[in-house]
Amino acid sequence: MSSTFISHAADHPAPTAFPWIADGLALGGDYSPEQWPDEVWAEDVALMREAGVNSVNLGVFSWGLLEVANGEFDWGWLDRAMDLLHGAGIGVNLATPTAAPPMWLLQAHPEIATVDADGRRTGPGGRLSWSPSSATFRRYALRMVRALAERYAEHPALRMWHVSNEVGNENGWTYDDETVAAWRVWLEEHYGDVAALNAAWGSAFWGHHYTAFSQVGGPRHSRTSHNPGMLLDFERFTSQALLGHVIAEREVLREVTPNVPITTNFMVQHSPGVDDYRHWTGEVDLVANDHYTMGPDPRRASELIFSAARTRGLAEGRPWLLIEHSTGAVNWQGVNRAKGPGELRLDSLSHVAGGADGTLFFQWRASTAGAEQFHSAIVPHAGADSTIFRDVTALGADLRSLAPIRGSRVEAAQVALVFDHESSAAWRSGPKPTTLFRDIDLPVRLVEALSERGVAVDVVPAQADLRGYRAVLVPTVYLAQDGLAESLRTAAEAGASVLVSYLSGIVDPSNRVIPGGYPGAFRELLGVRVDEFFPLFEHERVRLDDGAEADLWTERVALDGAEARIRLDSGDLAGTPALTRHAVGAGAAWYLATRPERAGLERILDELLAEAGVAPVAPADRGLVLARRRHEGSASYLFAVNRTEQPLGLQASGTDLLTGENVDGRVEVPARGIRVIQESAR
Ligand code: GAL
Repeated sequence: MSSTFISHAADHPAPTAFPWIADGLALGGDYSPEQWPDEVWAEDVALMREAGVNSVNLGVFSWGLLEVANGEFDWGWLDRAMDLLHGAGIGVNLATPTAAPPMWLLQAHPEIATVDADGRRTGPGGRLSWSPSSATFRRYALRMVRALAERYAEHPALRMWHVSNEVGNENGWTYDDETVAAWRVWLEEHYGDVAALNAAWGSAFWGHHYTAFSQVGGPRHSRTSHNPGMLLDFERFTSQALLGHVIAEREVLREVTPNVPITTNFMVQHSPGVDDYRHWTGEVDLVANDHYTMGPDPRRASELIFSAARTRGLAEGRPWLLIEHSTGAVNWQGVNRAKGPGELRLDSLSHVAGGADGTLFFQWRASTAGAEQFHSAIVPHAGADSTIFRDVTALGADLRSLAPIRGSRVEAAQVALVFDHESSAAWRSGPKPTTLFRDIDLPVRLVEALSERGVAVDVVPAQADLRGYRAVLVPTVYLAQDGLAESLRTAAEAGASVLVSYLSGIVDPSNRVIPGGYPGAFRELLGVRVDEFFPLFEHERVRLDDGAEADLWTERVALDGAEARIRLDSGDLAGTPALTRHAVGAGAAWYLATRPERAGLERILDELLAEAGVAPVAPADRGLVLARRRHEGSASYLFAVNRTEQPLGLQASGTDLLTGENVDGRVEVPARGIRVIQESAR
C-alpha cells in the first residue's frame, strides 16, 4: 500500500517477543488517576496489588490536562502517577492522549473537527472529533506526542506506547474539505487517470462521467444512494487516512524511543467500522484488540470466539493482547446488562484460549462523572467490597497460575473460515437485495456449531494461504478478492472440503457485480449457476427436503456439474437445490444457497466435517469449547470451557494449571467452569 498519507519507516525494528508488558499474563485496565483526588490514588495502587494488576493503560484522553494551554505543559500529575505505579511494580502502556483534543485547540481551530455527510461540524465536548486529514490537527497532535515521548522516554514504568485510542471509532467517517481534497489525491494515486476511475466505478450510470478528479465529491449527503464503487473506495481511503495518523504518531515515538514497542487498540469486532486492520497489523509491534460482548445477543459467547480467532488471524497466529473489555455492563447498548455468574472469568479466559496473552479492562475505577459514569470497571461505584472486584481478584489468581502459557501459540486449526473486511464494506455500499443480512451472522453461527463440537477454527483473511486446511468455510464473502477463487480451488483439489454460502463471490474488488449468473467468482468451482435471488421476508420460512426449515435467503440454483444434496420443499422455488456438492480434484466444493435453522446447519456441517476428516481438539462431550496452545516443540495446554449449566467431560492427561490437580482419563469441567490442562507429552 502506498499513499501520500502514509510514510513507511524503512527500518521498522523487529518486534520484541511478546509479552514484554508484564511478568506473566497481563491483567489490568485503563487507569485515569486524573479523575480522582490523591488519597484515592494510594487506595488504587493498594487494590491493584491485591487484585494482581500488573499492567495499565495510562493517560488515554488526558491531552487537556497535560497541555493546559497552547505549548504549555503540566506534567506534575502524570509524573506522580508514573512513579507511583512503578513503585508498585505495575507496568504502564502510556497512551498518546490524542483521542480527545483539548478545548483550547478546538476553540482556536474548529476546522480540525469532523464533518458529517449532512455538512454538520462536530462541536467540542466529545472525543475523536478530529479529522485524520487535518494538517493543523496533525501538527498539534505530533507536538504533544513528541513532548510526552521525550518526557517519559527513560521512565522505568514505561513498557509500551498506546497510540491514541480506537482511531476510527467516532471519527471513522468525515466529509470535511481537507478530507475531500486528500481523497481526490488518493484517487489520482490509485487510478492514475480519470478514465480508469470511470471504468472501475461504472460511472456511465446516471451519466456520472468524470473528466477531472476535482469533480469527485466526497460521498456527502445525496437524496439517492451513491455509487457503490465510490463508497467502497471512500472506505478504503478513510482506513488509510486513519492509519496514516497512527503511523505519523508512531514515527515520532520510534524516533524518540526506538526500543519501546508500540501498539494501538483495534476494534476488530466493530464490523461497521472503517478500519481495515489487515493493513494495520504490520505497522504495530503488537496486535491489541478491544472486545465488548453484546448483552442481548444469545450468541455472544460464540461471537467472542469468532472475534478472538479473527484477531489471531490478523496477528498471523502470534499472541495478542485483549487491551479492553468490560467487567460488567457497558453504557452504550440500550439496556446495559451486567454479566452473569462466572461470565467475567469465562470471557477473559476464552480470549486467552484464543491466543491473548493478557486481559485488560475498560476501566480500573468507575467514573462518577462524565459520559461513561454508568460503565462498569474493576472497582465499581460500590468499591472493592463488590462481586466484580472479587471476581477480578480471582481472575488475577487464575492468570498467575496460567503464566507458563505466555508466549505460546494457538495450535493451527483444521478448519479455516474466511472473513473479509472489504466484503462487509462492499455490502453496506448502497441498496442491496435485503436489509436483513448481517455480515457476521453466518460466520458466528458456523463458529458456534464448530465450537460446540470441540472443533477449532482459524478465521483468516481472503488473502490467506488455505493449503493445509481440511475444511474451508466461505460464509457470505460477498466480495471476491483477487486470487480467492484460485486458492479455494487449490485447497479443494488437494483434498479439502470447501463450503461456500449464499451471497459470496457476487462482486469484484471494484464492487461491480460479476455477470453471467451468481456467484460469479465461484460459479465454476461450485458447478452451479444462479439466475435470480429470492430473499425471504422477515419471519418467512421455507421447508427443505431433509426436514429442516430455512429463512432469510433463497435463490434459484441450477446445477452445472454439481449434484443437489438438499432441495427446497416449499415456496416459489420448491424443487430447486439448496445444498450442492461438486467433486473437485481430491476434495469437493459445496454450495449452501439458504440459511437453515440450527439443527439443519449442524447436519450439513457434520457431513462436511466427516467427509473432510476433521477431528475435535480432544475427545469431549458436545458443548465443551476446546482450544490448544503450544510452545514450539514443547509443552501444550488444553483449554476446555463449559458455558452450560451441566458438568461436561473430556479425555485428557496432565496437570490442571488452575487447580494443580493431576488428571488422566475422563476429566469433568464444572458448569460455567473452565480447565486448562498442561498436557503430558503428546
Ligand atoms: C471503548 C473505548 C473506551 C471506552 C469503552 C466503553 O470503545 O476505547 O475508551 O469508551 O469503549 O465501553
